[in-house]
Amino acid sequence: MVVVIGSSNIDLTATVDRLPARGETVLGQRFVQSFGGKGANQAVAASRAGAEVRFLSKVGADAHGDLMAEHLQEEGLSQQVLLRDADASTGVAMILVDGAGDNQIVVVPGSNHRLTAADVRQHAALMADARVLLVQMEMLPETVEAALLLAKQHGLTTILNPAPACPLSPDLLKLVDILTPNETEVRTLTGMTDPSEGAHLLALQGGGIVVVTCGDEGAFLSCGKRRTHVPTFVVEAIDSTGAGDAFNGVLACALAEGIEIESALEKASAAGALATTTAGAQASMPGRRDIDRLCQFGTKRIRR
Ligand code: RIB
Ligand code: NA
Repeated sequence: MVVVIGSSNIDLTATVDRLPARGETVLGQRFVQSFGGKGANQAVAASRAGAEVRFLSKVGADAHGDLMAEHLQEEGLSQQVLLRDADASTGVAMILVDGAGDNQIVVVPGSNHRLTAADVRQHAALMADARVLLVQMEMLPETVEAALLLAKQHGLTTILNPAPACPLSPDLLKLVDILTPNETEVRTLTGMTDPSEGAHLLALQGGGIVVVTCGDEGAFLSCGKRRTHVPTFVVEAIDSTGAGDAFNGVLACALAEGIEIESALEKASAAGALATTTAGAQASMPGRRDIDRLCQFGTKRIRR
């Protein structure tokens, strides 16, 4: 059982040849409205990979919130607690995707910032008999901390995906078993540009496992003195949106099944790679069969 606490957003995505420079206007090719939010994406990723998932999130009492509730139900996330805030709008993400599949995202948290530590404590029952808690930083830091604390009290393994990038307090880091920043986030957390060195420093500071995801460069694992590179798989990438979420959701799923960390990371890498082959965030979360197939038959990418 995986518990995911986090954001639900409506994603407004425009595809462009290239991302605009400051003050510049460019013409886009396509516009799509779809389901996103790092919390919801990761919950869907874990569920499609085969985990039983309990998801806690907060949307607004608006049309976007209605859409989200209906969508998560259809997705089969039956054990979801979707709270509604009467005074805030549902979270929205404005996403630009360029011709190379790279993106730029602005998130307006709205109701996601109304999910309180008290809300989390009120739903402590979500943690009962669960094995893994997965959280991200699209909520208030005190909400994340309350979730982590509760999870540790219930004996869960905790994963914090520190996205979007923000400084984290040592008290919060102490509650994290596995920290999964990407290259940008590790730079914010440590000031280091080398992801492997950044992972190592964080692991020494926090005492837990640190995994830095680096897109098609794979991931770097650091745990105490142990340092490993996890290669990713060769795929044809068109849109990297949601790749990190696929990675985290599938990592949580694999760990909840009791799979050891290095094999779990291989599955997570495969899922991240697969998510780049489909447009959008949540729509691109792969199923278990595709993940297993890529792990078994895929070509590992050699580091540049
Ligand atoms: O990680 C991708 C997600 O970030 C998008 O779905 C968007 O909602 C933002 O939260
Ligand atoms: Na994608």
